[in-house]
Parts: sequence; C-alpha cells; structure tokens
Amino acid sequence: MVIRTARLVLRDMGEADLPGLASMLEDPVAMTHYEGPFSDGEVRGWLDRQRRRYAEDGYGLWAVVGRESGELLGQCGITWQDIGGEWRPEIGYHVKRAWWGYGYATEAALACRDYAFDELGMGEVWAQVRDSNIASMNVAIRVGMTVRYRFVKMYRGVEMPHYAFSVRR
Ligand SMILES: CC(C)(COP(=O)(O)OP(=O)(O)OC[C@H]1O[C@@H](n2cnc3c(N)ncnc32)[C@H](O)[C@@H]1OP(=O)(O)O)[C@@H](O)C(=O)NCCC(=O)NCCS
Repeated sequence: MVIRTARLVLRDMGEADLPGLASMLEDPVAMTHYEGPFSDGEVRGWLDRQRRRYAEDGYGLWAVVGRESGELLGQCGITWQDIGGEWRPEIGYHVKRAWWGYGYATEAALACRDYAFDELGMGEVWAQVRDSNIASMNVAIRVGMTVRYRFVKMYRGVEMPHYAFSVRR
C-alpha cells in the first residue's frame, strides 16, 4: 500500500523501520500523553501489530516518509479501535519531535481520511484524543473533525479522559 501527497509517502512499515519507530515511541516528551515512553518490547509489539493489521484488514498505521529524502518522519494510518465502547475506524498520527509544526501530521491525516472515504468506502472516521493533547486535537480539527462525545479510557493502568472526534463523508 502506498499513498503519495505533496511532500509525503505513506507506506507499509517493515523490519527496517524498527529503529525509527523506536526513536518516536521511546521519546519521553512525545509520549507524555501515552503516560511515558515505550520499552523496546512495546515497540516490537507495536510494529508486529501493524504488520498483522496489514495482513488482516489491508491497512494499519503506515510509515510516513519524506518524498524527497525517504526519511521516516512519523506514522499515520487507519486502525479499528474501541472508542468509548464503540468499534470505530480511527486515524492515528505520530510525528518525530524534530519534525513537529511543519504540518506533516495534518497532511498525512488528510490523505488517510480521503483514502478511508474514497478507497475503503467508509462513511465516517474517528480520532480518540486524550484531553491533555492539544496538538492532536488541532490536527483532528484541521482534517474537518468535530467532537462527538467524551469518554474515559483505561490505558497502561491509568484512567484517561478522552474526546471522540469524527468527520463524516
Ligand atoms: C500530534 C502530532 C502528531 C502533531 O504533529 P505535527 O506534524 O506537529 O502537526 P501539524 O504540524 O500538522 O500541526 C497541526 C496543528 O497543531 C498545532 N500544534 C503543533 N504542535 C503543537 C503543540 N505542541 N501544542 C499546541 N499546538 C500544536 C500546529 O500549530 C497546528 O495548528 P495551527 O496551524 O492551527 O496553529 C505531534 O505533536 C505528535 O506526534 N505528538 C505525539 C504523538 C501523539 O500524541 N499523537 C496523537 C495521539 S491522539
């Protein structure tokens, strides 16, 4: 699977992306809203889960790489998530801290939204955002989402208030 945008390419992640993925998910600042950095084992599990999703669903979180540089800048894609008791297709996004503020998350998420509507025939896509994560809310808003409801998610043993955002086709 490959999606191209003006500046980015979204493609399946492979074994070679493990170190780049680790640098994102083991960054304590970027992982504040996830209650701290992942361990090597959690990163391994994360990559394996995406590879399983590609095989089972045909999509998952993809690598976001620079069109020119080929460098891994982040990850973005579509996964099925329990969002406050409802099973929903979610657009997820992470960008390496060095690349925050360049509009990459928004550009990648817009491409995933269009892919969900145009290629997967989905009628609505979602984003679950912890109430502390303002940067992520701004990305959701920039891809046309609005808040639908609040819920509390248990993640890594912590109760986290979240907002459920969505955009309809
Ligand atoms: C959320 C995240 C993906 C945003 O990536 P990004 O590429 O910097 O986002 P964009 O450049 O597309 O910016 C989108 C908007 O958020 C704003 N923004 C970026 N970083 C911000 C911050 N730290 N605080 C507040 N707003 C921020 C941008 O200014 C922009 O809004 P504006 O142009 O209307 O002012 C990035 O901060 C990240 O990877 N965070 C850690 C992982 C995470 O929390 N993912 C989301 C889980 S729900």
